[in-house]
Amino acid sequence: MLHLILADSEIEQVPAEIADHKIISWQARKRARRPTELILNSSLHHKAMEKLPDAERRGRPDIVHFFLSLALDSPLNLEGQLRVYIHTRNDQVILADPSVNLPRSYNRFEGLMEQLFMTGAAPPEKPLLVLKKLPLAELVQRIQPYRTIAFSEKGANKKLSDIFGRFSISEEICAIVGGFPHGDYISNLDGVASEVVSIYPKLLTAPAVVSSILCAYEQRFEII
Ligand SMILES: C[S@@+](CC[C@H](N)C(=O)[O-])C[C@H]1O[C@@H](n2cnc3c(N)ncnc32)[C@H](O)[C@@H]1O
Repeated sequence: MLHLILADSEIEQVPAEIADHKIISWQARKRARRPTELILNSSLHHKAMEKLPDAERRGRPDIVHFFLSLALDSPLNLEGQLRVYIHTRNDQVILADPSVNLPRSYNRFEGLMEQLFMTGAAPPEKPLLVLKKLPLAELVQRIQPYRTIAFSEKGANKKLSDIFGRFSISEEICAIVGGFPHGDYISNLDGVASEVVSIYPKLLTAPAVVSSILCAYEQRFEII
């Protein structure tokens, strides 16, 4: 089985230090939420985010939406051979049930994330997404994988077919992809990942890497 972790993902509630900004207050009124119940979104809140540390990489729930859509719709998930986890910059983890029916529309996804971050579980009628406080190292420890492979443009060059070629389907393999647009992992990968690999000489987006991983794994085990 493949356990796919989107690590250090840039999804979080609006931090208290920018909650008073007029853009945030206006959007909070519009959505009938408290400012700090909103999900930070750099495409809407970039002016308010200017003074936040790491502003250039924060507020990217769109990466999480794209990742979950790709992973949950994959043949690997339909075959019951995939588990997905979103680890965030604040060491929270979203555990996604493989049967979750994700909203296609980004606006509805944002509403679902607001609910999840406010209550710890969503949707209310049947919680298939659960939010827990869990650092990356502890998440991997709970999965107890046979091997953990982290993906980074700075890793050792490897072909995806070589990476998965040595495993069998019964082995629990964990793949870690960064859920951030720039910079490096915030979490320490030492002792967490058995290896850090690069699959292409240039920087790729997280969804491009995730779709390559899913495809390589599905081909290796003849799922597609
Ligand atoms: C936009 S990148 C983040 C940039 C960051 N400099 C990095 O690679 O760690 C998002 C994620 O996609 C993956 N990625 C991007 N380019 C890659 C490459 N050439 N090989 C393997 N993984 C890559 C990494 O997991 C990365 O964290």
